[in-house]
Amino acid sequence: MNNFEIILDNMRDGILLIDLNGNVLQINKSLKELLDKNKAIIDIGDDISKIELDPELKRVIERTLSSPKENDIEIWADKYSATLHLSVVPIKSTDQSNVLIIFRNTTKQRQLENVRRDFVANVSHELKTPITGIKLLADAICQSDEVKDNEIIQFSKRLGKETGRLVQLVNDLLDLSKLEAVKPSFEYFDFAGLIRELGNEFDSVAERKEISFELTIDEEIPFCFGSPEQLELLIVNLFENAIRYTLPSGRVRADFSSKKSSVFFKIEDDGIGIPKKDINRIFERFYRVDKARSRMKGGTGLGLSIVKHVVQNHDGLIDVKSDVGVGSTFTVELPLVTL
Ligand SMILES: Nc1ncnc2c1ncn2[C@@H]1O[C@H](COP(=O)(O)OP(=O)(O)OP(=O)(O)O)[C@@H](O)[C@H]1O
Ligand SMILES: [Mg+2]
Repeated sequence: MNNFEIILDNMRDGILLIDLNGNVLQINKSLKELLDKNKAIIDIGDDISKIELDPELKRVIERTLSSPKENDIEIWADKYSATLHLSVVPIKSTDQSNVLIIFRNTTKQRQLENVRRDFVANVSHELKTPITGIKLLADAICQSDEVKDNEIIQFSKRLGKETGRLVQLVNDLLDLSKLEAVKPSFEYFDFAGLIRELGNEFDSVAERKEISFELTIDEEIPFCFGSPEQLELLIVNLFENAIRYTLPSGRVRADFSSKKSSVFFKIEDDGIGIPKKDINRIFERFYRVDKARSRMKGGTGLGLSIVKHVVQNHDGLIDVKSDVGVGSTFTVELPLVTL
């Protein structure tokens, strides 16, 4: 292989040089891999029109060969499940005309853009509901000649509730953006002690809902190496969900143990459960199985995406098993023991 071929084959972009009759003059490894994982379907000397390509790509190539001009296009190629950016460059020399097509796989980039766009749309939508409520209530209070004193108290209480939702949403968003943007600072800390403290707080939350709440913590848990702030978010969100989605007189059990270099946190409830079709999506931002119900209970659908990030930042694993009407079990494994 000469240097030119080495460069070509190690480029991330796909390269295709064809003459106006569709004969392949040059093709690199990236493009062969993109068009066919076995790299068997297309090679130098082949006639491109005889090759089974994605129909949209085929159309673009045919159009390019019939009237070659410089062009940049993006297509969705169903056959390769990929968004492809194609830069077409006609190359004219004295004796022949060829066309160079540079392929760039932009699938990931487009997906990220879509996620970002959806995220902004979702945030705006979530903000709109409490803000509209606050505006209506404030207007009603301003017209106080027609509003009775007890109504003003009622409106003010609702104002407080809507504002609370806004604060909760903004706090969740800040937590999430911090988790994504900042590299967590890890330290040795008493994870068992932290869970015990949080457990005491949630004891009273559960009691108010008449839910029995049991927490067992293995005595032998060593100090852990991780981010206490982030791991607190993880535990709080899982405690909160277990209690939130369990009906009064239900039961929540949490267990914290360690084995070798990992700690295990398991939280089990006999609550409403999660339908099979939703289970893979509950870690997405803003995803709620029952939007109205979760929102009524003050949920924004960000809790589990925060949990997922914390698990990822600590190289851990999270698993969920759930049956509708029976309950849910979340299991987290975190490799935090380094001593
Ligand atoms: N223990 C559970 N039992 C049943 N459903 C659950 C449980 N945990 C989560 N879910 C479902 O997963 C969805 C997403 O959970 P997540 O914690 O991300 O959001 P949320 O609880 O609705 O709001 P937030 O946590 O932001 O206040 C919930 O709306 C609920 O439908
Ligand atoms: Mg939650």
